[in-house]
Amino acid sequence: MKKTLIRGGKIVSSSGTIETDVLISVNKEIEELKPKINPPKNAEVIEAAGRLIYPLLIDCHVHFREPGMEYKATMESESAAALNGGIGTVCEMPNTIPPTVTVVALADKVRRAAKIDGLNIKFFFGVTEPAHLQELRNLWTGDSLEHRRLRRHCPGVKLFMDHSTGDLRAEGDVIASVFETCAELKIPLVAHCEDPETNAEAKKSVTATDIGAHALLRPPESEVRALEKALAFTAKYSVSLHIAHLSTREGAELVRSAKNDGLKVTCEVTPHHLFFTSDDYSDLGTFIKVNPAIAGVEHRDALWQAVLDGTVDCIASDHAPHTLQEKRNTEPLKAPSGIPGMELMLPLLLTAAAGRWPHPRSKPPPAFGLKYQDIFRLCFENPNRIFGLGCEAIQKTKPARLIIVDPKKEFTVTPVALHGKSGWTPYEAWQLTGKVESVFQ
Ligand code: DOR
Ligand code: ZN
Repeated sequence: MKKTLIRGGKIVSSSGTIETDVLISVNKEIEELKPKINPPKNAEVIEAAGRLIYPLLIDCHVHFREPGMEYKATMESESAAALNGGIGTVCEMPNTIPPTVTVVALADKVRRAAKIDGLNIKFFFGVTEPAHLQELRNLWTGDSLEHRRLRRHCPGVKLFMDHSTGDLRAEGDVIASVFETCAELKIPLVAHCEDPETNAEAKKSVTATDIGAHALLRPPESEVRALEKALAFTAKYSVSLHIAHLSTREGAELVRSAKNDGLKVTCEVTPHHLFFTSDDYSDLGTFIKVNPAIAGVEHRDALWQAVLDGTVDCIASDHAPHTLQEKRNTEPLKAPSGIPGMELMLPLLLTAAAGRWPHPRSKPPPAFGLKYQDIFRLCFENPNRIFGLGCEAIQKTKPARLIIVDPKKEFTVTPVALHGKSGWTPYEAWQLTGKVESVFQ
C-alpha cells in the first residue's frame, strides 16, 4: 500500500472552498492537511487542480427494498449507486417487507448492512400501530448492549401520514402518540405529509385516468393539511420534526413561518421536486409518478426560493427504485410511485451550482442556483446534525472518506452508465455539469 497525495484541490466546507493538499496514510487516514505538501517518497500523487473535495455526502432519505423486494433493488446494488454518486451515508426508510417496525426487523437490516462495503446505512423505524411504539420504546430505552448497538444504526422514526408504497400509514390516535413518544425520548421524527382525507376527497371527484391525474389525486392541499396537523403536534409536544420531501409553495411558507415562530422543525426537498413540474407528465409519464406528486411550476419555483433563503435544510433523493416493467403499467395510475435519484443528485446540484439549468425542455425558475458550500451544508452538515449521524468532516487523523469532484466535467445521462438495479432514470439525455471523479471510502 502507498500513501496518496491529493494535490491542488479545493476542500469545500460550510465556510467556503480552500485550496488544500490532502495526504492520506497507508491505513486510509488523513495524515496531513495543508497547502503545498511535499510528496513523500513512493506516494501516489493525484493532481486535483480545478477539482473540489467534499467528505462523502449524506442522503437522508432512500428506499433500498431489502428485505422483501430484492427484485427492485438490494443494499448491495444501491450501495454502488450511492458511492458512484458521492454518497457515503444513507438513511433508509422502513417500508420494506417486513417493515422496520420491530427491533427484530431492525436487527435483521443492521446485520445485512454490515456486509456492505463503503456505504454507511442507517435505518428509520416505522410506526403504524401501538405495538410498534412499544417496540420503539424498548429500542430507545433498553440498556442491553444489543439495544445500544442497534440504536446507533437508527436515526429516528418515519411517520407516514397517508399511505404510500408499502402502506405504512399510521392511523388516528397513533399519530399523536408518535409525536408524544418521540418528544419524550428525544427521537428525531420524520413526517411524510399527505392528508388521507384530502386524498380520499380528490379520488371521488377526479375521473381522468391519464398520468397527469396523479397530481390531481394527490393535490398540493393534501401536503398543506397534513403539514398543518404535524406542525400543531410539534408545537404541542415540542418534538424535533423533519419534513420529508417538501413539495409545495404553501408547504414551504408554513415551514418558513414555523421556523420563525421558533418551532424545532427542519425540512428536505428532493431533486425531482426541484427540476420537474406537472408539465413533464406528458413526456415522462409514470417515470415521474411519485408521492408527494410533482406539482405545478409555481411550486417548483417556490421550492428553489426556499432553498435559496435557507428555509430548506437538506436535499435528499428519496431514491425509490421500481422496475421498468412496473413503471410501464398500461394503466399509468396503477404504476408504483417513486423515482430512483441518488446517483444523480450531486451532479444535478453541481449543475445548478455551475449556473446551468439542466432540464432540456423547461424554462428555468426565476431564481435557482447554489454555491458549492451550500451543497456541503444541505447534503452533509445539516443531515449529519439533524439525525446525529456522527459523520466526520475532512480533518487530520480522521478516516479519509472523501470524494474528488470535477465541477466542470460535462456528461450526458445514460441509464446504462448508472449503477442502481432499476436501470432507468427520468433524467435520461440531460446534460449535466459536474461529476464525481474519485471516491475514497
Ligand atoms: O413515491 C414514493 N415512493 N413515495 C413514498 O412515500 C414511498 C416511495 C417508495 O417507497 O416507493
Ligand atoms: Zn420516501
